[in-house]
Amino acid sequence: MRISLVQGDITLQEVDAVVNAANSSLLGGGGVDGAIHRRGGPAILAACRELRASRYGRGLPTGQAVATTAGELPARWVIHTVGPVHSTAEDRSELLASCFRESLRVADELGAASVAFPAVSAGIFGWPIGDAARIAITTVRTSPTTRVEDVRFVLFGQEAYTAFEQVL
Ligand code: AR6
Repeated sequence: MRISLVQGDITLQEVDAVVNAANSSLLGGGGVDGAIHRRGGPAILAACRELRASRYGRGLPTGQAVATTAGELPARWVIHTVGPVHSTAEDRSELLASCFRESLRVADELGAASVAFPAVSAGIFGWPIGDAARIAITTVRTSPTTRVEDVRFVLFGQEAYTAFEQVL
């Protein structure tokens, strides 16, 4: 597997699947989630509503992942995952690691060979970027069974890029 870092906007990536840092409602929000729904158009939200009406009546649990169409994005699929809100009282690293493992598992089910990840939980959910980068890269690197060949971390801004670069 090739792991690469890109500074930029995840919605513009030409990959098979882009991962969305969603929330349990799957019905949109700010940050990456807002950008994906804005650029991808209404087909993504329609697919999310269907998931809520069928498999995920109570929402997508933290640490899990599910795919929809990517609508008008260059990618074929969006894989929505829900990162944990950062806490100083409790270690939620395992839930954050699960987001990356589960997203790769869903990518394998789809047959996606290239996947772009944002820094899940490192924005609105408050995760310190250095720790988020360590968990993201370590988890992807130690996912031996995946058939995904190209993992691209797409970082919004110099600070996030540098944090990932240091870990890599
Ligand atoms: N491309 C790449 N990275 C981005 C982009 C973009 N277009 N926009 C922001 N980032 P966040 P979270 C970076 O807040 O912390 C939403 O409301 C951002 O700078 O998108 O998991 C959801 O609905 C940060 O480094 O996700 C949830 O409620 C990283 O992406 C909640 O936010 C993640 O920031 C999820 O919060």
